[in-house]
Amino acid sequence: MQQEITFFQRDVLKEKPDTASLGFGKYYSDYMFVMDYHVENGWHDPRIIPYAPLTLDPAAMVFHYGQAIFEGLKAYKSADGTIQLFRPEKNMKRLNDSCDRLCIPQIDESFLLSAIKQLIFTEKDWIPDGEGTSLYIRPFIFSTEPYLGVRPANQYKLLVILSPSGAYYGDQLSPVKIYVEEQYVRAVIGGVGHVKTSGNYAASMKAQEKAEANGFAQILWLDAKENKYVEEVGSMNIFFKINGEVVTPKLNGSILPGVTRDSVIELLKYWNIPVHEAKISIEEIFAAHERGELEVFGAGTAAVISPVGELNWNERSITINDNKIGQLSQRIYEEITGIQIGKKADPFNWTVKV
Ligand code: COI
Repeated sequence: MQQEITFFQRDVLKEKPDTASLGFGKYYSDYMFVMDYHVENGWHDPRIIPYAPLTLDPAAMVFHYGQAIFEGLKAYKSADGTIQLFRPEKNMKRLNDSCDRLCIPQIDESFLLSAIKQLIFTEKDWIPDGEGTSLYIRPFIFSTEPYLGVRPANQYKLLVILSPSGAYYGDQLSPVKIYVEEQYVRAVIGGVGHVKTSGNYAASMKAQEKAEANGFAQILWLDAKENKYVEEVGSMNIFFKINGEVVTPKLNGSILPGVTRDSVIELLKYWNIPVHEAKISIEEIFAAHERGELEVFGAGTAAVISPVGELNWNERSITINDNKIGQLSQRIYEEITGIQIGKKADPFNWTVKV
């Protein structure tokens, strides 16, 4: 499916935002990548066109039955101007895993990656180079066929948009307050929690709203069956350092297999720090805190490494590491971001040049 990508020039370029005021996901670059699927001719018509609103039929199946999936990755500019991506092949693979789960036709992973590189190259001036900034890349696919019967659609659109971004949470290394949710659940085994469907995020909003109203940045989800075992946080995976060893919930079919999660595990192994993927209960976490042994951080593409300063569960609240970033979280943050922006050696060959 190696097709030629058509380029449509825009007349006037947008003004770029000030790096200091970026925040996350508020600004979009000049161009986007688009490709269509029809059951009769497969994925076709790849093009880079001016970023603009779309026109869709009100009966487009995505509005009714929610076949929509997405990915998130970032492009970084290193000090010498090299542009690099971080393990993008993992995002391409996960996009296809999400497609598979929602009966969306598979994409050609290497073609999409080359299209993303072409888009990034076109938009290289949109990659911010301030500390902690990057160009967030959002590929997504949704069903467009106008039809109201329930079945997988015969038509889809794949888009990639770009958003120059800074920290996901206000201040990257300031610890966040997290609420352990017991009333609502995120995902069940056999459901869609292990893939990146838009519906997972829609289902999380009620609890997120409740948490925010009570002063918390995010939700920590427990397993849907026993309401006992830790799963993940709203926008990231979670890690606990307990008495010198690191533990993160084992992928069980309802947890998202994060690229940053995998990178943290690989890094810890490389440093000979014991790391386990295990079933871990919220009770054990609170007990570890009582023994004075706990450090907690989240890991995600948007969130990077985000220290957790407070956990609130069942009306009990614990302050972790004096509400300061822990030593290990800081070390991992520096190593991963150092590799991403080309400041540190990349012994794992994680970075891919554009
Ligand atoms: C990412 O980290 O890229 C995500 O997709 C999380 C998000 C929903 C902001």
